[in-house]
This record gives sequence, C-alpha cells and structure tokens, in this order.
Amino acid sequence: MAHFTVTPLGDALGAEISGVDLSAPLAADVIDRIKQAWADHLVLRFRGRILTDPQLLAFTRHFGELDPPGPNPYGKPFLSEFPEINVISNIKKDGVPMGNLGDGEAVWHCDMTYIESPPRGALLHALQIPPEGGDTFWSNMYLAWDALPDAMKMQIDGKRAIHDATYNSAGMMRKGMQEVTDPRKAPGAHHPLVIRHPETQRPALFLGRRRNSYIVGMDLDASNALLDTLWAHATQPAFTFRQVWQEGDLIMWDNRCTLHRRDSFDPSASRLMHRTQIKGGKVAPYEPAKLTVAS
Ligand code: SIN
Repeated sequence: MAHFTVTPLGDALGAEISGVDLSAPLAADVIDRIKQAWADHLVLRFRGRILTDPQLLAFTRHFGELDPPGPNPYGKPFLSEFPEINVISNIKKDGVPMGNLGDGEAVWHCDMTYIESPPRGALLHALQIPPEGGDTFWSNMYLAWDALPDAMKMQIDGKRAIHDATYNSAGMMRKGMQEVTDPRKAPGAHHPLVIRHPETQRPALFLGRRRNSYIVGMDLDASNALLDTLWAHATQPAFTFRQVWQEGDLIMWDNRCTLHRRDSFDPSASRLMHRTQIKGGKVAPYEPAKLTVAS
C-alpha cells in the first residue's frame, strides 16, 4: 500500500500530496493512488523539490502520452533539447523571451481547446518565482455545472460553442492568425458546452476561453449575454482554489473539468516555470438522456 498523504487545499478543488519523492522511480501502486487523488481533487500540488527536466518528463509520462506545447508566438520550442516542455516566463536573455505569457494577467481558460482533441491535463513546475504576484487560480467545472439553475442547464444542454484559436491567454496573437471581427467566424474547434468527463463520467461545464467565443446557432447578442452569465457563474470564488507559489512546487491539473488563470506580477521580478502536457481525446457531450436505462 502506497504511503503518502492527500490534504485538501480548500472546499472547491485541489489537494496537496506529501510523502512522495518525484525525483525517484515511482511504484505502480503510488501512481494509481495519485491518479485516484487527481480524479477526486482535479488539481494536485507536490511541494518542496526542484526536478530536472528529464525527471519532470518521466513523472508526466505516468499519466499518459506527452503532448507537445501548442505553437508559441515565436514559432519554435523554447527548449531545443526538450521540445515537449513549454517554458512560462517573463525572463529575457539578450532581449529574447525565454518563455511564454510574459508578466501580465493570463485570463481564465482551459488549454488548447481550440483543437478537436485538447490535452487531458498539464503540469506546471515552479523554478523561480517573484516575491509577490503571479498567483494561479483554478475553478471546478463540475461544481459550476452542478450549481447551475435547472432552467439554464436545459438551455445549454446539447449546445456547442466555438473555442477561438486566435489569441493565447496573455492576449498575444498566435503565429499565423488574424484579427477576428465576428466571433461567429472565429477559427477553432466547436465543443459541447457541457461534457461528460471521460474517466469520472461526471458532467462539467466546458467553456474554453471567453474571447471570441460563440454559441453555435444563437443570435450573436444572445450568445454573448448567455456566455457572460456562464463565465461569471463558473469563475466565482466559491468554485476556485488559489495557488501562492513556492519554488519547487509542481501542480498538475485536469484540463477537462477545470479552468485556470494567473495574476500579473512585477515586470522587474523573474518568474520561470517549466510545463508539460498530457495528450487527451475528443470531448464528448454530456447527453443526460443516455443515462436512462432501458427496461
Ligand atoms: C498557464 O496558463 O499555463 C500558466 C499559468 C501560470 O503561469 O501560472
């Protein structure tokens, strides 16, 4: 039996795992328990040890196939030796950014939902953090769905939304994209607004990112009004967990049932995170009717 502790980090989501050395090979029962804790808590934190890049990659592989980072605004991997690792940083070397997202706010989003098969999850490892600011927040999309009034559940069930590919969460245009003037024509995958989580089978709101989103088939103003309501609901503090980073923290999150965002921080401070991603699959609609068992 794997011996480590799982301590919830709040009422909504998140738990800290202590007593596991991520730099060493891990036994199958330890991985199985971590997977169970991940399904139960959506966001897991491991504290207190800086991992090497190969250690971070090895740990990530326990949870699925590595998913290379999406295209960054500079058009090539930040770490040529480890192209599967994304760098999130505001640091510049000889005037050249070492990583993505800079020092500004990164708005609420899930990762790469502009593609048909978005990643199942991601891991973010803090190597250098600013004295203050740059906190990251996650919100629980199972709770957001559960707490919606029935009338709104019925209104959105079966509907799909466009997940725009144009901008990243820091507001930078992705390479090769063009300004979107009509969200109805935004490039990006169309996903159900409420999905069935492939492992837990629980329904979750699946919003992606607000900018240029559009609920397919609706009048544009009505779509915007409904999306604004859903986003305000989904990101309310009661559904969230706030991560105040320490160096060595490693956070892994489930990308199908959470949203995340990051606070800005002092541009003269340095923040350096290494990030990996796990391949996912096409998300499936909730379809509660399918729950009915034929007699
Ligand atoms: C991200 O959105 O993946 C980065 C979050 C952060 O910088 O804390």
